[in-house]
Formats: sequence, C-alpha cells, structure tokens
Amino acid sequence: MKSLTLEKIKSKLTYKEVPIPDASGNNRLIRLRAAAINHRDLYIQQGLYPGIKTPIILGSDGAGMTEDGQEVIINPAFDWGDNPDFPDKSFTILGLPHNGTFAEYLSVPHKQIYPKPKHLSFEEAAALPLAGLTAYRALFTKGWIKAGQKVLISGVGGGVALFAFQFALALGAEVYVTSGSAEKRAKALEMGAKAAFDYKEADFGKRIGKETGGIQLIIDSAGGSGFAELTKCAAPGARIVTYGGTRGKINNLSPQIIFWKQLHILGTSMGNDTEFAAMLEFVNQHQIHPVIDSAWKLSEGNKAFARMEQGGQFGKVVLDMKRP
Ligand SMILES: NC(=O)c1ccc[n+]([C@@H]2O[C@H](COP(=O)([O-])OP(=O)(O)OC[C@H]3O[C@@H](n4cnc5c(N)ncnc54)[C@H](OP(=O)(O)O)[C@@H]3O)[C@@H](O)[C@H]2O)c1
Repeated sequence: MKSLTLEKIKSKLTYKEVPIPDASGNNRLIRLRAAAINHRDLYIQQGLYPGIKTPIILGSDGAGMTEDGQEVIINPAFDWGDNPDFPDKSFTILGLPHNGTFAEYLSVPHKQIYPKPKHLSFEEAAALPLAGLTAYRALFTKGWIKAGQKVLISGVGGGVALFAFQFALALGAEVYVTSGSAEKRAKALEMGAKAAFDYKEADFGKRIGKETGGIQLIIDSAGGSGFAELTKCAAPGARIVTYGGTRGKINNLSPQIIFWKQLHILGTSMGNDTEFAAMLEFVNQHQIHPVIDSAWKLSEGNKAFARMEQGGQFGKVVLDMKRP
C-alpha cells in the first residue's frame, strides 16, 4: 500500500510503498478513504513531541471502510482507562507510537471503530476525530458550557478551535472569537460569531471585556503572553480551558485577577471513549459539517503539511485517498 512515512525527524515525509498491516486478533483492517492533519503531526515531524520513534506513518484522524463494507471513523484516543478526570499511563494517540492514518490501510483495535456520521463525506468525517474530541471535552466536560452563555474561542482558525466554535454555536451559546487574520475573523462572523477580535492588538482582552460585559467560558490553545489578556475579559467565576501551548509559556498572569474574579483555569487533553461517542452524537443531532480548508492527494502530503505550517488554513487540511 502507499503511505506517507516519517523516516527521521526534521525531514520531509516519504511517499512510499509499504506492506498492508496485519489485522489479526482484536484488530480490524480499514481501507482509509480520507485522513486529516493535526498540529501534533507537525510537532512530531519537527522533533517537538515526547517519545518520537521513526520510521512511523503519522496521522491520528481517518475515515474509511471495513472489510465488510461499513463506513467508519476511528477514535484516535487509545486506552484512556477508568478515571474520567485524566488518562491512564497506558493512554496513547494513533499516529505515534502506533502507525497512523496517512496510508491506504490501517490496522486498528475494533473498539476504536465507530460508524461514520451519515451526513458527512469521508473528508468531513476524517476531519472530526482528534479535534472534535478535544473541543467536545474542553467545552462540555471541563467548560460546563450552557446555552446562552458568553463563550470566547481564541484563535478560531485552528482545527480544534473551529470545532469548539461550531459546537458552541450549535448549543445556542453567545459566541465570540479571536483570530490574527482579518479574513478568518470575517468568516467567523459569517458563520455566526457575535463579534471577532484581533489577538495581535495590545489590550485586546480589556477591549473584549468592555464590549461583551465579560466572558463566562474561554477556550484557548495559544498560551503565551496573550493568555493574561484572556483573564482580563473573563467574567467573575469564569472558566478558562486550555488544551495547547502554541505560543509557549504563559507569563504576566496577575494572581489578583485570578483570585478576585474567582476564575477557574482548567487543563484538558483529548477525551475518553464516552466523550468520543457523545461528540459523535452531538454532531449527528445538530448535523454539523466540519469545515474543510483543503484536500490533497496522499502523494501531496508535504504540500498539505506546508499549508498547515504556514497557518493560513481555515478548517482542516485533509488527505483524500480516493484521488489517485
Ligand atoms: N491537548 C490536546 O488534546 C490537543 C489536541 C489538539 C491540539 N492541541 C494543541 O492545540 C494547538 C492547536 O492545534 P490545532 O491542531 O488546532 O492547530 P492549527 O489548526 O494549526 O491551529 C493553530 C491556531 O493557533 C492560533 N493562534 C496562533 N497564535 C495565536 C495567539 N497568539 N492567540 C490565539 N490563537 C493563536 C491560530 O489561529 P488564527 O489563525 O485564527 O489566528 C492558528 O490557526 C496546538 O498547540 C496543538 O498541539 C492539543
């Protein structure tokens, strides 16, 4: 089968023929029809992720067909364990250390396989698993989101952020966004954002607080120096949920803002099987369509990675295995 293999860190992906994986025991063979890229794949390629082993077929997200013709999507969160609060030590994510979805076939434990939402194409379904799961846990389990609440999604152009935005809108929250791109802010407004702000502006947090009257739930994956701004627009008792550190260490945080406003700062990462099933149910119930930025052939994997790396995307960057 054809695959995109990372032979060693800091090198381009190699498009090459490898054997179709064995799918005996509890595993099933999936003929992948589409896969999607996450920032994680870039971090692994760049050597910025713990526990990297090479060669490896990257890719956490995929949708395809089982050997008996069922259309399925794959839960990339393996072995969460019994405690819903945090994953077990045995927890892993598809695409490292196990070979992932940037290939024509995948062997995966059958409990990771779920029916593909019928209203989604394979590309849309492939866009969903990792980012949808992370967004779902951030909003619902950690964020306790409620209809009518004021919610801020920071960096809405990101894969997870865009799902958080769509889910919050579908629930009936009053949703605000930030983005560093005027084009992405305009797209978010078209999709239903109440207002869109530029996180590159000094004092953007103060401005959001003033214009919105205070945000009750903030979802962020940037961290860095902008995080302190987010605490400034938080309403008393607000929850700030973080799932990423794209902009590095958080600094300049004012303890006074945190304790006077009685803020909750919560970390989250991926989610468990129950949350994955609940996320799919939510997507089915609200007939949500993931936003696809662009679709590439498997052989164009390096171009697709470059698109992600440049950060110009709005929505998921997808690999379409149906295109020769
Ligand atoms: N813990 C987990 O389970 C988990 C899961 C998925 C992702 N992540 C992490 O979350 C981050 C995003 O991942 P992704 O796959 O969604 O990435 P992505 O699609 O590449 O998106 C990155 C986004 O970050 C936003 N951004 C950049 N600088 C920002 C800033 N100063 N303030 C606010 N937003 C900023 C940008 O939004 P604009 O373009 O709108 O400016 C950009 O679109 C990564 O660090 C990733 O490792 C963690």
